[in-house]
Amino acid sequence: MAFPPNFLDDIRTRLPVSSGVGRRVRLIKRGREYVGLSPFSNEKTPSFTVNDEKGFYHCFSTQEHGDIFSFLMKTQNLSFVEAVERLAEEAGLEMPRATPQEAAEAARETKLREAAEAGCSFFEQMLHAPDGSHALEYLRNRGLSDATIKRFRLGYAPNGNQLKTKLTARGVKEDLLLDVRLVSPGKEGRESFDFFRDRVMFPILDMRGRPVAFGGRVMGEGEPKYLNSPDTPLFHKGQMLYNFSLARAAAGDKREVIVAEGYMDVIGLSQAGFTHAVAPLGTAMTEGQLAILWRLAPEPILCFDGDRAGRAAALRAAERALPLLKPGLSLRFAMMPAGKDPDDICRREGAEAMQAVLAAAVPLSEVVWQQLLAQNPADTPERRAGLERAAQAKAGVIGDESVQAQYRQHFRNRLFELFRAPRAASGGQGGGFAGGKGRGFRPGPGQKGATPGRFAGFPPPRASGDPDNARKVRERILLATLLTHPDIFDHVEERLGRLDFADSRLDLLRQTALIHVAQDPELDFGGLQAHLANTGFAAELETLLNSTTYVHAGFARPTAPKEQAISGWDHTFALCQRADLEADLKRAELELAENPSEHALAVFEALQRQVRPPGDEDSDEL
Ligand code: UTP
Ligand code: MN
Repeated sequence: MAFPPNFLDDIRTRLPVSSGVGRRVRLIKRGREYVGLSPFSNEKTPSFTVNDEKGFYHCFSTQEHGDIFSFLMKTQNLSFVEAVERLAEEAGLEMPRATPQEAAEAARETKLREAAEAGCSFFEQMLHAPDGSHALEYLRNRGLSDATIKRFRLGYAPNGNQLKTKLTARGVKEDLLLDVRLVSPGKEGRESFDFFRDRVMFPILDMRGRPVAFGGRVMGEGEPKYLNSPDTPLFHKGQMLYNFSLARAAAGDKREVIVAEGYMDVIGLSQAGFTHAVAPLGTAMTEGQLAILWRLAPEPILCFDGDRAGRAAALRAAERALPLLKPGLSLRFAMMPAGKDPDDICRREGAEAMQAVLAAAVPLSEVVWQQLLAQNPADTPERRAGLERAAQAKAGVIGDESVQAQYRQHFRNRLFELFRAPRAASGGQGGGFAGGKGRGFRPGPGQKGATPGRFAGFPPPRASGDPDNARKVRERILLATLLTHPDIFDHVEERLGRLDFADSRLDLLRQTALIHVAQDPELDFGGLQAHLANTGFAAELETLLNSTTYVHAGFARPTAPKEQAISGWDHTFALCQRADLEADLKRAELELAENPSEHALAVFEALQRQVRPPGDEDSDEL
């Protein structure tokens, strides 16, 4: 909507910036200006100033600058029009309606909203009426508390035409119910009828929390599982996110937003404490929805099922986002174990398990890189050139110049690592994905010298057969030593990042610990332990950090000096590698016995030289 210029000025004159800001920031008058602590940074000395005469605020620590409208937009996550509406109301000004037609449309819209609200409360009432008892039981069986049911205004649409009958009797006009599609027009002169029947109802609220549409779920079998309102004058599916109105404040505070796939995921997440969750409405993410998400947080976390369909959906979302990236704005991808959604995880495994999944989210750049690798095998010079070209083409779709340049550079680095590092190389500098102040780190198992993150395989592919006990003990020691000595991260990062632990919980702990340390180089043993305990690994920590481990490996003790931790770690890792080599050697020996050939012999001899280099006396002591 275009506002007449004097309308905005009228608001500005009636509402000094300091009055709007003052509600959020404690301001002290200093000369002609006000000063206070910046709401945009975590500062201790005030660098935030407000000048009513000039009508703006300025923050010297973040360089944020603007007027009363932008202040509200930034601190409350509002769009410009929403900010104007709010402030106009506060200033006692009527929102301008440019033409009589617009005024009529606005009046009609108000009526439609009233009809949708009437429908929503009708469904809520029915959930607690005798007809709705099975629906209420259904929701409770799905683990929802009464408070959650109320918070999300869940309801029940009864059979027959009860909605139409009751609401029109209460004076709601039928044409309004038809327009918001609570009632469907009857075909060929037949009577109109209730759109939703015998379904659990999930109202879809607009940005301000007003119902505008609905999703209705069947309780037993039946198609469709969810019946959704079509687009109406109130509801534009592609421009909305389920639960936006409730999630907005929490997302703004946390600077984080979780994007799940469906209604129940959002509700399950919210009940488990993740109140900053939203979902697109049964469609692939649209540009409009991405724009809304980026107003909430710089790196929304998208959750996907770890199965094939979920991965395909993740790739589609990545594809959609790539052209739209801006400096600082991206996405992260959290892959659920196959066949599970956030609702399942929150309910069956708890908030900690969900937190661990979120903590292991990988950046968009990683997802794109993995896809490039999957589509472009790099096993010959020509194919490597092909991969290089595909990577640069991929970067080329990014609209923003500086982000595009960063992606080009990022891919060049990844290609360089990939081509430079043949399979067995260890050590070397990591140039992994953690940009900025974080450190490089690659959490996934090694694969053809590539360095995939966990997106490539969640859960990571495992070698079949149970690894022997010594191997498990060594894995525990390697991990325990990093936990008690986070400052050896730089030394062990590459190698620990490439290992793939047999125990899936420990493997998750390995990845999570690496991520934590990569993100916060200052983290010490206590801090790391607290972090991990908070993200659901308390039990694992207990089994890991105890005397059983320390008896095997004194250097893993928290009190052991760093040099000892490093040399102990290196030694243990070498033993691990050696055990792997020996297993390979055994296999090669068998192969040679069964299928004697030049090639098999060469493999066997090469392995033998590696396992027992001339003069090597070092024995396996673990
Ligand atoms: P899912 O089939 O994954 O269902 O659809 P769900 O969210 O796990 O729901 P529950 O746990 O079985 O109740 C994901 C989302 O896709 C949309 C809905 O928004 C749903 O939440 N969907 C799915 C539809 O719109 N219609 C359908 O028939 C199915
Ligand atoms: Mn589900």
